[in-house]
Amino acid sequence: MNREMDELLGVAWEAASAAGEIIRANWQQPKTIGYKGAIDLVTSVDRDSERKIVEIIQRYFPNHSILAEEETNVEGTQNEFRWIVDPLDGTTNFAHGYPQFCVSIALEQHGQVIAGLVYDPLRRECFRAATGKGATLNGEPIATSAANHLDKALLATGFPYDHREHADYYLSYFRAFMTRCQGIRRGGSAALDLSYVACGRLDGFWEMKLKPWDTAAGALIVSEAGGKLSDFAGKPFTIWGDETLAANSSIHDEMVKVANTVARARVD
Ligand code: IPD
Ligand code: CA
Ligand code: CA
Repeated sequence: MNREMDELLGVAWEAASAAGEIIRANWQQPKTIGYKGAIDLVTSVDRDSERKIVEIIQRYFPNHSILAEEETNVEGTQNEFRWIVDPLDGTTNFAHGYPQFCVSIALEQHGQVIAGLVYDPLRRECFRAATGKGATLNGEPIATSAANHLDKALLATGFPYDHREHADYYLSYFRAFMTRCQGIRRGGSAALDLSYVACGRLDGFWEMKLKPWDTAAGALIVSEAGGKLSDFAGKPFTIWGDETLAANSSIHDEMVKVANTVARARVD
């Protein structure tokens, strides 16, 4: 890893570990919960975590742009670099004291994600990747699983915040995969789901309507660990798209085929 990338990831780590301390100190405490939608929660800890991350990034890189989920969208004077931040991925879990959530920080250069870090503050697991440099878990290289058939695969998914309105449609994908794989988990943190695909704990993952801050770091971690990403039709994945399908490179195409058995509907 070159020096500049080391420095960038070092700052991402300083920010994620500081945010992780805030999250760890609060996860079993009573929460102040707000609602962005009927079931889309936000807590004061999401905001405190975001403020801490933004403060640390700006201390080192005052000219960089930052896009974070809750309240930050700053355009830097030098627009080569943009940080994309989910200060707490898995807020519903966090609000209920269910121990599965993380901090996700990615860095774009000229619109391409070049570095990503996902930190689980409870397990103290830090997943990192930089373009062309591979992916690591707490400093050790990681790789996607060896499962080569869906039949042997453990998958994960998540449901968008409008799942009450479009339950049947989202469940049609669930059904299609459920009848063909070994099991499906719904962990509640897309960034951790992607990181788990990267290190082989999961073989594949799909979800609709994720946002750039959910996927930017995790997607790079998957591809640097040898995995494949696309939309449900097999077209190139983008963090701005509506569909995320990530898997080890052996079962990815099989997952696309299964996704294509589901009749498409518009669920805006
Ligand atoms: C959510 C989590 C969840 C996924 C949702 C996301 P948030 O992020 O990643 O697993 O199913 O679609 O919005 O709101 O907890 O940051
Ligand atoms: Ca999120
Ligand atoms: Ca979040």
